[in-house]
Amino acid sequence: MNTNYGKLSRFLQISPVKNTELLLFSLLVFNFFKTNKNKNILLLGIPEIVNPLIIVPYIFKLGFLNFRRKRYFVRLKNHLVGTFSIVEASNSIHIYSLTVGPQWRKLGIATFILSCLEAQAIRKNKTWLEVSVHKTNNPALRLYTNFGFIKIQESRWFFLFRKLIRKSL
Ligand SMILES: CC(C)(COP(=O)(O)OP(=O)(O)OC[C@H]1O[C@@H](n2cnc3c(N)ncnc32)[C@H](O)[C@@H]1OP(=O)(O)O)[C@@H](O)C(=O)NCCC(=O)NCCS
Repeated sequence: MNTNYGKLSRFLQISPVKNTELLLFSLLVFNFFKTNKNKNILLLGIPEIVNPLIIVPYIFKLGFLNFRRKRYFVRLKNHLVGTFSIVEASNSIHIYSLTVGPQWRKLGIATFILSCLEAQAIRKNKTWLEVSVHKTNNPALRLYTNFGFIKIQESRWFFLFRKLIRKSL
């Protein structure tokens, strides 16, 4: 674990995305995913030459998919440094759109987000946290594995990861 993590987490704030901020959320998610070294994660095989054109359908798709999700910004003082959204089911919390801005990476911010979600899952007596990860997204695969997630299914592009929540006694 990065030693900056402890210091940094005191300044991190999670706040729900307001209705007026929905477009900003989608743009930020697009932008933070786009900076991933492996563009295939965002483009799913679409040639990079059409990259600028993909933003419109991507934003629409994200807006549509996120309709049922609770969306959150992560702020470090007055900087927007990360995003995530969740869907709660009776047993689980599924995580989507977890991103951290490129200049804020490897400081433990994504780990902080996962710790907050785990605490929420414990409070709400859920059985597991769940996330789908693109098979070639190595930083994300390492993040979730380090945090105790286990691969439970795979499809053509994605692994489904789960972390069992320890029940409070
Ligand atoms: C994946 C992502 C969210 C990680 O965020 P982060 O704040 O940098 O993660 P953390 O600092 O909490 O790092 C936690 C662990 O993740 C792994 N990790 C993070 N960035 C990594 C990188 N570039 N390469 C390899 N491993 C990496 C490391 O194992 C790290 O543990 P360590 O500190 O012991 O080395 C970030 O890289 C990102 O936003 N990527 C683009 C969007 C994305 O792919 N989201 C995942 C969707 S499933």
